[in-house]
Amino acid sequence: MKTRLTELLGCRYPIIQTAMGWVADARLVAATGEAGGFGFLAGAVMTLEEIEQGIVDIKTRTDAPFGVNFHMYVPHAAGIIDLCIDHQVRAVSYSRSPSAKLVEKLKGAGIVCIPTVGAYRHALKAVELGADALVVQGGEGGGHTGSVATTILLGQLRDKVAVPYAAAGGFRDGAGLVAAMALGADGIAMGTRFLLTEESPVPAQTKAVYLETPPEKIVVSTRLDGLPQRMIANAYLARLIDATSLGLLLRALKNGFQFTRMTGGSLWGMLRSAWAMYRSGDLSLGQTMMAANAPMMIQEAMVKGQPDDGILPSGQVAGLIDDLPAVDQLLAMIMRDAEGTLARMRAVSEAAGDKE
Ligand SMILES: Cc1cc2nc3c(=O)[nH]c(=O)nc-3n(C[C@H](O)[C@H](O)[C@H](O)COP(=O)(O)O)c2cc1C
Repeated sequence: MKTRLTELLGCRYPIIQTAMGWVADARLVAATGEAGGFGFLAGAVMTLEEIEQGIVDIKTRTDAPFGVNFHMYVPHAAGIIDLCIDHQVRAVSYSRSPSAKLVEKLKGAGIVCIPTVGAYRHALKAVELGADALVVQGGEGGGHTGSVATTILLGQLRDKVAVPYAAAGGFRDGAGLVAAMALGADGIAMGTRFLLTEESPVPAQTKAVYLETPPEKIVVSTRLDGLPQRMIANAYLARLIDATSLGLLLRALKNGFQFTRMTGGSLWGMLRSAWAMYRSGDLSLGQTMMAANAPMMIQEAMVKGQPDDGILPSGQVAGLIDDLPAVDQLLAMIMRDAEGTLARMRAVSEAAGDKE
């Protein structure tokens, strides 16, 4: 299936495996590329060395193109951009855009810039800043998310941007792929569906919680970092909701220090990034101070396998997923289902034609 997105990214199918902190590792990204999709390494929670190792690891596993996701406000963001250029990765993704100058630098090096946006105006802004393509995520999507549902967001965007875009938020199968394309998208991007695969590194006991949670228990909360995030309503989130403001502040400071140490930064670097984030005007002071909360709280469940002691970011689509296929089986299933859906629609339209 060729679309503007497959042409731009150099993959066989218009299916992106999005970056997920602690989840989208080299093995998952390489498996996605090998199976014909396009994977992003979750660089936002990694040190420079870990990102480089990840890139090298992916390249030893596959020749397929892939991308790296990063956060513009980590102290080593400029270093990540240089790494991506040195290693000629095919694409980068981000949710807070680097400056137009840095976007230009990446594009000048032949790297596709494909940010994730969760609102119509953010999509227009990202294109203005030079994005080559977009991942457009509706509110049912996992992790940080907007308030507008995927179908509505796609309706807002239709015919409004010249660049190709993948629809995200709520996708898991071929019917969804066909629906997204009918609504104007050039493909789909999925997080939760890839988290629930054989290759995903998430411990089995944490995957089991995702598999048994119904859609209505996958909620949006601002308790992590002041920004809306979709996650499973577990005991840990309940504790966060009950915590006092002082308790939240102390937790945010502790997580901020831990995150800085973990990503190889210094206290001074952390303060500079926090200041830059605040100055950008995107976040309030409280949100800036809590910015490192999410990655640290997610780590407990995703890496240590303690689903009750951490946050479980998830799209609502987890409520419709009950299996853990290998990535190549998953992509084959999606493409078969897309063919079946198209055939079903053709049959309906032919039957209607016969009646006329
Ligand atoms: C566990 C988890 C971790 C995530 N971490 C990141 C991240 O590090 N960077 C990012 O840009 N998006 C992150 N996201 C958002 C996903 O990349 C993606 O946009 C979203 O999952 C799409 O919606 P879906 O889950 O319905 O497929 C995360 C999502 C999940 C579920």
